[in-house]
Amino acid sequence: MGPAYICLTPHLTMKKLIYIAGVLLCIVVVLQFFRPRLDNPPVTQDLAAPADVQHIFRKSCYACHSNETNLSWYDKIVPAYWLVASHVREGRARLNFSHWDSLKPGEQQAYLFESLNQAAFGAMPLASYTAVHHGAEITSADIETLKHYLASLPHPDPTDTARLGGWLRQYLAFTTGPQKIAKDIQPESNGFTIPADFSYWEVVNISERWDNGTMRAILGNPVAIKAIAEGHTNPWPDGSAFAKVGWVQRADSTGIIHAGAFTHAEFMVKDAQKYAATEGWGWGRWVGGINLVAYGKNETFVTECTNCHKPMKDQDFVFTIPTQRDSLGAVPGSKILATFIDTKSNTMSTLFGNDVAMRAAKTAFAGATATIATGYPEGSVLTLVTRGRQEDPHWFGARIPGSIQSVEMVQLGQGAIHYEGKPVADTSQRLKEILSIRPNILPVLE
Ligand code: HEC
Ligand code: HEC
Repeated sequence: MGPAYICLTPHLTMKKLIYIAGVLLCIVVVLQFFRPRLDNPPVTQDLAAPADVQHIFRKSCYACHSNETNLSWYDKIVPAYWLVASHVREGRARLNFSHWDSLKPGEQQAYLFESLNQAAFGAMPLASYTAVHHGAEITSADIETLKHYLASLPHPDPTDTARLGGWLRQYLAFTTGPQKIAKDIQPESNGFTIPADFSYWEVVNISERWDNGTMRAILGNPVAIKAIAEGHTNPWPDGSAFAKVGWVQRADSTGIIHAGAFTHAEFMVKDAQKYAATEGWGWGRWVGGINLVAYGKNETFVTECTNCHKPMKDQDFVFTIPTQRDSLGAVPGSKILATFIDTKSNTMSTLFGNDVAMRAAKTAFAGATATIATGYPEGSVLTLVTRGRQEDPHWFGARIPGSIQSVEMVQLGQGAIHYEGKPVADTSQRLKEILSIRPNILPVLE
């Protein structure tokens, strides 16, 4: 007997109403005995942070992300309690500040950055929680405090190659060029298979992550590139796909930061129906450098992807702003050959190549170091786009390219090399510089 029935029954007498209210009250009272257990197990190690930072997490996050859950009386009434208990259980399972020691230092820092970014976009704390728990909201002053603290933590130094341990060190030997993968690549644990042609997709944007010392390029398949050109990006059409590829940052002796060892590739493929359960996208990640080892231990790894992309739900779960493409109308083909950062001029550059250049970089240069300048065959077109360097408005911890500073184009044809771009003192010297930029390592699967 629900409220709708009562409303639709105008002839109810006062007596009957009291009776119904009594029955409902009894039901609510009986339901109070159906309570999932919610203990506060021991704290093995609490989040270590300055007092003001601690305070923010405690007031806004600890209800669900610690073993120090302190429920209000109104949280303890069933059925509200069922929702609260499930949030606490799930929240603790994803991230628990009371077991800080169970995370490696790198993971701790990654979770803090994710936490800040979730809070900055209003995804955390859950809106259903702040609606009834005033004082738990995250304020803009809180965000500033957290940013200040995270910026002060030690970050990887691109000049320090000794920082690279394990398998990354092994790949330092590969200094240039895309690498061919010999072995078959296993599908992800959710059945998602790696798109074989991804290293030939066009560039949507690049980004730098100062929080973890890496560089990334975000590539789009032809469907995604067409959607960008036509302005149909929210929602993205079915068939759109993105690859995000990462490299370790490595500084050379002049201070220029290059994309060093290849680290991983991850993908999103849009199919609103097929992937309805995972926000309309299929997700997959391969790690371990050019060995490309499937990342997910089981298919629940996808929750990690969707949770962290959730703050972007108003733009169909995609972080990247396609800024690299607005300057490229004139460029025939825009496959990524190289990316680098000049910290002195505070610029980010991308060297794009057409298919001829890209294929040459894959075959002719793989493993070579000295003869790149002569390695590009006739028909190669290279375009070097240099932009300013700015903070990424979608992710504290990242920087993305800003306004264009220069576009330089090099065309190789009929025995001649043609340069077009900014005025330079010595064209042949400039040509040499551009042609000897080391291509990023990028696995090629074909
Ligand atoms: C009312 C409970 C609740 C509160 C309060 C809360 N969270 Fe969450 N949090 C959750 C739940 C539940 C999830 C699981 C994903 C989801 O449902 O969105 C989650 C997921 C997360 C994740 C994703 C972890 C992963 O790897 O999947 C982060 C990060 C996070 N919360 C940070 C925070 C921060 C920071 C605060 C405080 C500013 C906070 N949360 C407050 C319940 C809560
Ligand atoms: C901790 C947060 C976080 C998690 C977890 C995460 N991503 Fe992302 N992802 C980002 C950010 C931030 C970007 C924007 C590019 C950049 O600066 O790195 C991004 C970008 C991407 C892109 C390029 C398209 C876009 O949205 O910009 C793909 C593809 C992608 N992620 C796939 C995945 C997959 C697959 C997983 C799960 C295995 C995953 N991501 C998990 C934060 C995350």
